[in-house]
Amino acid sequence: MFEKNLLNNKRILVSGGGSGLGKAMATRYLELGADIYICGRRKSVLDETAKELMDMHGGSVKSISCDIKVPEAIEDMVDEIWSEGPLTGLLNNAAGNFISRTEDLSPRAFTAISNIVFNGTFYMTNAIGKRWLNENLKGSIISILTTWVDSSGPYTVPSAMSKSGLATMTRSLAAEWGNRGIRLNGIAPGPFPTKGAWDRLAPGDKGKNLMNAIPMKRTGELSELANLATFLMADGCEYLTGEIIAIDGAQWLNHAGNFYEMLKDVTDEEWEQLRGLIKASNDADKAKRSV
Ligand code: HXC
Repeated sequence: MFEKNLLNNKRILVSGGGSGLGKAMATRYLELGADIYICGRRKSVLDETAKELMDMHGGSVKSISCDIKVPEAIEDMVDEIWSEGPLTGLLNNAAGNFISRTEDLSPRAFTAISNIVFNGTFYMTNAIGKRWLNENLKGSIISILTTWVDSSGPYTVPSAMSKSGLATMTRSLAAEWGNRGIRLNGIAPGPFPTKGAWDRLAPGDKGKNLMNAIPMKRTGELSELANLATFLMADGCEYLTGEIIAIDGAQWLNHAGNFYEMLKDVTDEEWEQLRGLIKASNDADKAKRSV
């Protein structure tokens, strides 16, 4: 889909890049020539991933232990990266989430999620954005959001609130930093089942009815997500900033207050019947018209 060396000379940091979606996107960036940094809280997982990716694709993947909730840890990490050269891109992928009835959440449960998603992602964005601004460098930031930022996130309220804040950050900073060559975009993935997310969002067999909610009747392929993340990170679409792009097989559009759920399984014969019923109703109305 892309030219082989599309991301040569790019240096990209992927938070939460040791597993799941982050790993998939980091892999594609590496394959296309970028130098990669991955950060997270589990150093052994990061190290394994870095080795696996370099064994498979060559290139450079460096792992750094960093909890994005801790601004000082981010500063140390950014110092370490910059000592080897500036980044060109940041992929805000790290997150925390679990499903719960909202009334069951303690304040600690709320902050366990919001401290990572809302605070941590802002700390990362501002720490790296400031470096670029101070050094007059261009940069691209992608944040993994959700479609819930434009609809609603029942049972995932701390995540939905946090990601909505990040959507506002994305749009605001696209405007604030746009004249200095820094662009920000968001990706809103639908269901891409990975262990980390699915253990917390669809435990047990809770994911089994999911397909009914997805017009395309399938979950996403990690390669599809990685392709979108590449397109947004590559040169060539610099005018694209402040956007949040859903990649979800139209899942979120099927519950946007419309008739999808009511009509999705209607057969050809039933459509004929429905059409007849509507016509009969129209005809009855027309028969009463005097003009
Ligand atoms: C209610 C719960 C709970 C649950 C924990 N708590 N689980 N409350 N229902 N199922 C409460 C605890 O009782 C405690 O409150 C508080 O939350 C903190 O609990 P800890 O176990 O100490 O949490 P912590 O170790 O901080 O870990 C929570 C976490 C963790 C941060 C969310 O799971 C984590 O680090 N996850 C990272 C990976 C991840 O979540 N990936 C999924 C991302 S998916 P009390 O008051 O009792 O002490 C995603 C989807 C959106 O983001 C993106 C779409 C693509």
